[in-house]
Amino acid sequence: MKSNSLFILGALATAVTGQQAAYGQCGGQGWTGPTTCVSGYTCVYSNDYYSQCLPGSAAATSSSKTTTKSTSTKTTTAKTSSTKTSSTKTSSTKTSSSKTTTPVITTTLVTTSKSAVPTTPVPSGSFTVEGYARDNPTGAVSGGAGGPTTTVSDYAAFTAAVKSNTAKVVYVNGIITLTSKVKIGSNTSVIGVGSNSGVTGKGLSLSSVDNIIIRNLKISMVKGDDLITLSKSTRVWIDHNELFNGGLGNGPDYYDGQIDITHASDFITVSWNYFHDHWKSSLVGNSDSNRAEDFGHLRISYHHNYWKNMGTRGPAGRFGHQHVYNNLYEDYHYQAIHSRSDNQVLVEGNVFRGDTREALSTYGLVIPEDSPNTCTCGDYELDGYANLGAANDWGPASINITQTGSFTSAGYSYNLTPLANVEAAVKAGAGVGKI
Ligand SMILES: *[C@@H]1O[C@H](CO)[C@@H](O)[C@H](O)[C@H]1NC(C)=O
Ligand SMILES: *[C@@H]1O[C@H](CO)[C@@H](O)[C@H](O)[C@H]1NC(C)=O
Repeated sequence: MKSNSLFILGALATAVTGQQAAYGQCGGQGWTGPTTCVSGYTCVYSNDYYSQCLPGSAAATSSSKTTTKSTSTKTTTAKTSSTKTSSTKTSSTKTSSSKTTTPVITTTLVTTSKSAVPTTPVPSGSFTVEGYARDNPTGAVSGGAGGPTTTVSDYAAFTAAVKSNTAKVVYVNGIITLTSKVKIGSNTSVIGVGSNSGVTGKGLSLSSVDNIIIRNLKISMVKGDDLITLSKSTRVWIDHNELFNGGLGNGPDYYDGQIDITHASDFITVSWNYFHDHWKSSLVGNSDSNRAEDFGHLRISYHHNYWKNMGTRGPAGRFGHQHVYNNLYEDYHYQAIHSRSDNQVLVEGNVFRGDTREALSTYGLVIPEDSPNTCTCGDYELDGYANLGAANDWGPASINITQTGSFTSAGYSYNLTPLANVEAAVKAGAGVGKI
């Protein structure tokens, strides 16, 4: 309950005053909601599709610049402040103009480019951590930063290297075949070398640990278990990995999840991963009977992931909050985002393509194509909630939102890629060999 108060207060403030809550959207093409912010926050232009209420005084020029921006004007003149000249669309000009108005957030708002056809598909600076793994009460995830570094290339060395809870960076060189699931200690970074390093055969376990970074690993082919399981763990950043199994031919339960996040785990960011050829991607909250432990936790940011040839759970959440933005879903056959058992999702700037039946549902039914426990016709749970932020491109997929909730703002600043650029940016930037 406690953890929801911020969001509920934010929603009330919006309703009562017509002003957007802290960190909420306040402008962008097609936006019809509030264009001014609550006291202490200013509406700051991020890109043509998105402006956000960020901490700072409204005395600066940025709010008028942002709020006047609307549907048809895509020229830079509309948002030009003193330093901006009409035809230059470089990020340096953008940065300098926003710097004058909102010094607090300049380091995180540099990235998204403004034109519909970006010069480089992935905006520079996008690969730093953002979301709940960065913005949380304990402090930004740092993994093993500052600790000793080792490079491993076999199972014994790997298990030994990742075990302790003291700060350490472990580089994995090549693909290591695991003979049992490997437990990662706290304060650890596990990073793949080059574009073909990782683990196969068994997965990784993060259990009752804190402050872990997992990047640039290929993780594959685990029968009957997850590729990565989080349980009772906090501050985890899972970034730029490739996670896959042998396709959907053996049904939903032959393999298990790709990243399952359970038992009140909290403050997780899952970004720029390439998930493919697998049925059940990411379960959040392992049981509808685990409310007492899970409710109010399971706060996870999923952004700029590429899901391709998948079945269900992209992600499927219970009891928590997931901010799902700028992901690309291609051939997500049955159901992508599922919010159930009073879970809340904030869904924005995502793109759905190919053979994708249902992009988003808050209807509590665990569909027959997932893994219902009691009936092949599906299991019924309580519905979840969904709020939509910046526009999504649902492509061929349907959505079924049975109730909207109080999760109207992520509660942190973040880089939203313009919707028109998401497909190219995610294809270019997700997976291994990119960092
Ligand atoms: C992680 O490192 C910090 C800083 O050294 C330390 O205070 C903390 O206890 C460590 N975590 C665990 C679970 O040991
Ligand atoms: C959407 O949700 C409603 C319940 O509000 C349900 O009756 C309906 O079957 C759902 N549609 C799909 C396609 O699941």
